[in-house]
Amino acid sequence: MSSKIPVGILGATGVVGQRFIQMLERHPWFEVAWLAASDRSEGKSYAEAARWRLKTPIPTAVAAMRVSPAIPDGAPRVIFAALDAGIAAELEPRFAHAGCAVVSNSSALRMQQDVPLVIPEVNPDHIKLIDGQSWRKKSGGYVVTNPNCSAIGLVLALAPLQQRFGLETVMAVTMQAVSGAGYPGVASLDILGNVIPYIAKEEEKMEEETRKLLGQMNGTKVVSATFAMSAQCNRVAVEDGHTESVSIRLNRKAKPEEMIAAWNSFRAEPQELELPSAPKDPVVYFGAPDRPQPRFDIDLGAGMTTSVGRLRPCGVLDWKFTVLSHNTIRGAAGAAVLNAELLKAKGYLG
Ligand SMILES: NC(=O)c1ccc[n+]([C@@H]2O[C@H](COP(=O)([O-])OP(=O)(O)OC[C@H]3O[C@@H](n4cnc5c(N)ncnc54)[C@H](OP(=O)(O)O)[C@@H]3O)[C@@H](O)[C@H]2O)c1
Repeated sequence: MSSKIPVGILGATGVVGQRFIQMLERHPWFEVAWLAASDRSEGKSYAEAARWRLKTPIPTAVAAMRVSPAIPDGAPRVIFAALDAGIAAELEPRFAHAGCAVVSNSSALRMQQDVPLVIPEVNPDHIKLIDGQSWRKKSGGYVVTNPNCSAIGLVLALAPLQQRFGLETVMAVTMQAVSGAGYPGVASLDILGNVIPYIAKEEEKMEEETRKLLGQMNGTKVVSATFAMSAQCNRVAVEDGHTESVSIRLNRKAKPEEMIAAWNSFRAEPQELELPSAPKDPVVYFGAPDRPQPRFDIDLGAGMTTSVGRLRPCGVLDWKFTVLSHNTIRGAAGAAVLNAELLKAKGYLG
């Protein structure tokens, strides 16, 4: 008998669902025990249902598992959810109501006042919002979310600066990988040799989520940060890895070497607690003038490290720099697994 915690994956066949399976294959605390997806996949073996697109093979035990219907009956108490927002809005509350800890990737409930939106290195104290959720009070179930795949890299780069110098203004322009649109995602004829300057609702998500993540817990509420923020989001023909060009104005003067030291020395609760998926370095600054690049740098820290480079003065705000993070690992499955590890470390997984 395994002593690991059995977990389920809702949306197991998708781009993020596959990353969950890959990341959980040798996880020391969690074991995949249940998989669910749409009616299209229900009843099939996972190997039949999923169009597997990762470079490591499907774990043997998972390949043979039957895909269950997406209902709480028979599901384990810990659920990683990787559903489209529309269906997540319906299903995630249903699982929480049934007593499950739902660790979600979707945007459906991220901005709901009683739902924590968490990056364990940045705002681990926000998980206390769980205690106010009606599901928690009735059945023990709850929902915790991780941010949008572009917001997470940006916030990991901003948090060390906010802590030391304060933030007044943030402008970010993204170049987002095609895997961020799920599978089959953007049609090849639309994206090859092209840049699409529109991703539905992405700019709004980046702006509101960044402020919630960098906001303060005040009693039983999160008060969002008040800095000015503008995001512009583009889809580019890159497979994995979101790159962002960022300009900022700080509240206090900073020297470049102080900002680089703030990034490179940034450590937080996941590193102190030695959570299994926590990278040794959450943020790394590259000194080379042409880095970071998705092709070379997205796998840093097993895909959990955010890379920063090209720090230089900005002619409009104070400073500008480049940020890169892995959208399906740090921006999705890895973010949720780290959230679940934090929940376990804080006693929320029973
Ligand atoms: N891709 C990224 O980089 C990324 C990053 C951060 C957050 N997210 C978020 O994560 C979520 C999943 O994204 P993805 O990229 O993995 O999408 P995806 O590749 O399109 O996968 C969607 C998954 O949801 C399942 N599904 C669809 N309709 C369903 C229904 N009615 N009932 C149950 N399951 C249903 C699909 O099952 P079938 O295969 O059976 O259709 C599939 O497993 C989205 O909310 C997305 O915004 C994605």
